[in-house]
Amino acid sequence: MRYAVGSDGVRISMESALTARDRVGVQDFVLLENHTSEAAFIENLRKRFKENLIYTYIGSVLVSVNPYKDLEIYTKNHMERYRGVNFYEVSPHVYAVSDNSYRSMRTERKDQCILISGESGAGKTEASKKILQYYAVTCPASDQVETVKDRLLQSNPVLEAFGNAKTLRNDNSSRFGKYMDIQFDFKGAPVGGHILNYLLEKSRVVHQNHGERNFHIFYQLIEGGEEDLLRRLGLERNPQQYQYLVKGNCPKVSSINDRSDWKVVRKALSVIGFSEDEVEELLNIIASVLHLGNIQYGGEDSGNAYITTDTQIKYLARLLGVDGLVLKEALTHKTIIAKGEELKSPLNLEQASSARDALSKAVYGRTFTWLVNKINVSLTYKNASVIGLLDIYGFEVFQHNSFEQFCINYCNEKLQQLFIELTLKSEQDEYEAEGITWEPVQYFNNKIICDLVEEKFKGIISILDEECLRPGDASDITFLEKLENTVGGHAHLTTHKLADGKTRKVMGREEFRLLHYAGEVNYNVNGFLDKNNDLLFRNLKEVMCMSDNKILTQCFDRAELKDSKRPETAATQFKTSLAKLMEILMSKEPSYVRCIKPNDAKQAGRFDDVLIRHQVKYLGLMENLRVRRAGFAYRRHYETFLQRYKSLCPETWPSWQGKLADGVSTLVKHLGYKPEEYKLGRSKIFIRFPKTLFATEDALETRKHSLASKLQSSWKGYSQKTKYRKLRSSAVVVQAWWRGILACRRAQRKRQAANTIRRFIKGFIYRHNERCPENEYFLDYVRYSFLMKLRRNLPKSVLDKSWPTAPTALIEASEQLRKLYMQNMVWGYCKRINPEWKHQLEQKMVASEIFKNKKDNYPQSVPKLFMGTRLNGEEINPKVLQSLGSETMKYAVPVTKYDRKGYKARPRQLLLTSNCAVIVEEAKLKQRIDYAALKGISVSSLSDGVFVLHVPTEDKKQKGDVVLQSDHIIETLTKVAICADKVNSININQGSITFTMGQGKEGIIDFTSGSELLVAKAKNGHLSVTAPRLNSR
Ligand SMILES: Nc1ncnc2c1ncn2[C@@H]1O[C@H](COP(=O)(O)OP(=O)(O)OP(=O)(O)O)[C@@H](O)[C@H]1O
Ligand SMILES: [Mg+2]
Repeated sequence: MRYAVGSDGVRISMESALTARDRVGVQDFVLLENHTSEAAFIENLRKRFKENLIYTYIGSVLVSVNPYKDLEIYTKNHMERYRGVNFYEVSPHVYAVSDNSYRSMRTERKDQCILISGESGAGKTEASKKILQYYAVTCPASDQVETVKDRLLQSNPVLEAFGNAKTLRNDNSSRFGKYMDIQFDFKGAPVGGHILNYLLEKSRVVHQNHGERNFHIFYQLIEGGEEDLLRRLGLERNPQQYQYLVKGNCPKVSSINDRSDWKVVRKALSVIGFSEDEVEELLNIIASVLHLGNIQYGGEDSGNAYITTDTQIKYLARLLGVDGLVLKEALTHKTIIAKGEELKSPLNLEQASSARDALSKAVYGRTFTWLVNKINVSLTYKNASVIGLLDIYGFEVFQHNSFEQFCINYCNEKLQQLFIELTLKSEQDEYEAEGITWEPVQYFNNKIICDLVEEKFKGIISILDEECLRPGDASDITFLEKLENTVGGHAHLTTHKLADGKTRKVMGREEFRLLHYAGEVNYNVNGFLDKNNDLLFRNLKEVMCMSDNKILTQCFDRAELKDSKRPETAATQFKTSLAKLMEILMSKEPSYVRCIKPNDAKQAGRFDDVLIRHQVKYLGLMENLRVRRAGFAYRRHYETFLQRYKSLCPETWPSWQGKLADGVSTLVKHLGYKPEEYKLGRSKIFIRFPKTLFATEDALETRKHSLASKLQSSWKGYSQKTKYRKLRSSAVVVQAWWRGILACRRAQRKRQAANTIRRFIKGFIYRHNERCPENEYFLDYVRYSFLMKLRRNLPKSVLDKSWPTAPTALIEASEQLRKLYMQNMVWGYCKRINPEWKHQLEQKMVASEIFKNKKDNYPQSVPKLFMGTRLNGEEINPKVLQSLGSETMKYAVPVTKYDRKGYKARPRQLLLTSNCAVIVEEAKLKQRIDYAALKGISVSSLSDGVFVLHVPTEDKKQKGDVVLQSDHIIETLTKVAICADKVNSININQGSITFTMGQGKEGIIDFTSGSELLVAKAKNGHLSVTAPRLNSR
């Protein structure tokens, strides 16, 4: 779990914060493991301070460390968060304390008080202001209440202006103790208040240490007062002009804006109910103190003092409303009543100065008290429940401690006593209420010190008073001696004379040492008598009693003059007021805020160990803790405890049905608590040691993880299942829709199919009719399917004559298509033919014309390509070529020539030129037949290669017809026919060919079919040619 560092809206319980204890420490010191160790205590403070966690509890006591910076933890949101919640459910805060007191007051109808203590600058006043603001914002309100709220809030700036000053320790140090009752009506609305003030540090009016200032109001008036006002008061706008403001040599403070503070104070005065006249009179007094300070004395020869500054007297007379001469007289003389007669004796310089200062102090001090009363009058309300706020000085130890420190420390002794009594009492009450046997707590009871100071006759104050009242030469030193004589043997007091050697070294001769509960303090007795006497000469009192100033007449009562009894000494007054305060506090239920100052430099983020250790000691925090821890470290209502830890025990998880006490008992037994570790009261469990709680808390942390993963897995399972179910139901819906669609489509298809079949059958029945609605579908279909079939079965080549049979309706169209297609194929084929192939085909065409169906070996020749020539250049004798001259050779082929006589076979070459056919034997040109002379060519119809070139008999150059045989008869004769243009001159003969042999003789060639080719002279003198039979014809 995350630890919330003041983040909005995050509630953290006390226990959960323990999980972050390593980092930010524990938020209640009672949970410190080593509760007696000061180091552990300070370490815890430090951890928290570093994390800006300035608040920590010791049980119900709040320890606050001044952060010296704005922490954003006092917003309205924060106030709301603390309102009405259980103290321990939220992180420690001054608002938690405020709210707790408020609720106790309302629910238990018991008056409350919040005691704020700590040394100067630790943040007491700030804390008290925060508390007041908390009530002002969060409590119910009405119109009348608004005024009271305002007055309560506005009393602060007024009292701070008159009672606070800049000191070395604090720029806004309260120089008086303050106890304020806030009164609430039965509805819980703040309806009034009452302030008690204690021991104002009057000496500051006339003297300030270096670096310190007088009370703020003087500077505010001088800086902020209107010109008019200053003129009336006879003041200049320059603090350096005033003797009472220059002692500390520190008129300006960077953190203070006197001018704007003046405005705030002026406004506050009117809110509180000051009339203009009252303000005027109040300011007259303040101004008159400044003028008093500027009164200068001169010394006569006789040593008597006289006033050298008459203007001051003039102003004073006007401002104080007294007779100037009388005042002047009073400031230089004292009146002694001896034997019923008034005797005036002049004062010397020193006496006159101290008389003047005494008057200033008295005037200021009494005015301050008047101011408090005035505020009280404006706040008064009776019959109400109250919450008291005590903002009082904490334990003080300086290098030199005087009467003031003595009083202050005495006050703290009293408060410590009250604390012990009340804490122990409340512990005891709680144990009793819970039915747990009380175990005695070991602690130091400081009653013995209180008695030493305040006891009648024997106490230090009594001894001091005695010395003050005693006739004769009483002095501070005689007081010290009297102390030694009277209480010298007391265990908590020692003096330089009585001390052992070691102590004597650290004590002055004029010092006595008190062993306070919080430590030892040496007091220097110098000034004790004077301060205790706090004397104002009678004639000065008389002057003041004559004043016209209404405030002063209230401050200086004439009855005082008549009272011959000596006034009570300061110490006794203080003792009495403290006794009253104790009574007040005792009648209330207290809460404590203990303030600590982290460093002397007023710096944020600096944690000065030594300084803090010192304060922890003087605030008695370790003592606080010891008392609180004497019994049990931790206690909680059964319900809260069970609620938090029930998951750690199977019987109590997830809920416990029986009594809460039994549930807690079952739980702690399961957790293995030992009997000495805890006790069960009526409504609460008490745990003795923090470690027991921490172990439980750690177990819870582990358990939380497993619970978290269990929750996670269940959640994951659940969410996956839900997702799956959703998916499945979606799938089912989609499926159903899709099935529906499919079924619709199928039905549609079936309907269509049935329709189609029906139309088909009808169409088939009417197929021979003219086109009509009944058969148009069928006819279209038939046409369509024929065309589609045709597309698939078109002939692949020009030779392919196949063609699908067309239905009756398409016969004509089919025929036209076939023709078109054929034409197209032929056209395509022709387009693809190259010139050589064309030439080849042309020759083949010629061959076909001549031989097709006429000669037996023609079919075999068809697939064989015709060659350009059968003899190349090298195979023909060059001489032959030479003799042919320019005639171009068109074709040459080896042939066999049969002699005319004897038909002897001779190898020859037949050459065809453009003009003639030539028969060549080697190099000899044997016979030349011009194409023009070629009468015809004969050839048999059989498969032989014999042919006859007929020449005219009358040509003498020719020796007769030539009988030749070619192995490529079809090719050779086609070439001859083309070259000689004798296509029609080729005769294909059956049986025999007759040819001329020259000289009128004839020869005959007989052709017969046989098994193989045989050419020979037959017995009848004919040339017999047997040609093999070929099956192809
Ligand atoms: N809770 C706080 N948040 C921020 N700043 C703070 C807080 N408490 C105190 N301070 C600072 O510390 C200064 C001194 O505080 P404060 O006047 O309350 O001290 P104090 O204890 O009343 O001293 P003294 O005994 O001198 O009156 C304040 O003026 C303020 O600047
Ligand atoms: Mg203060």
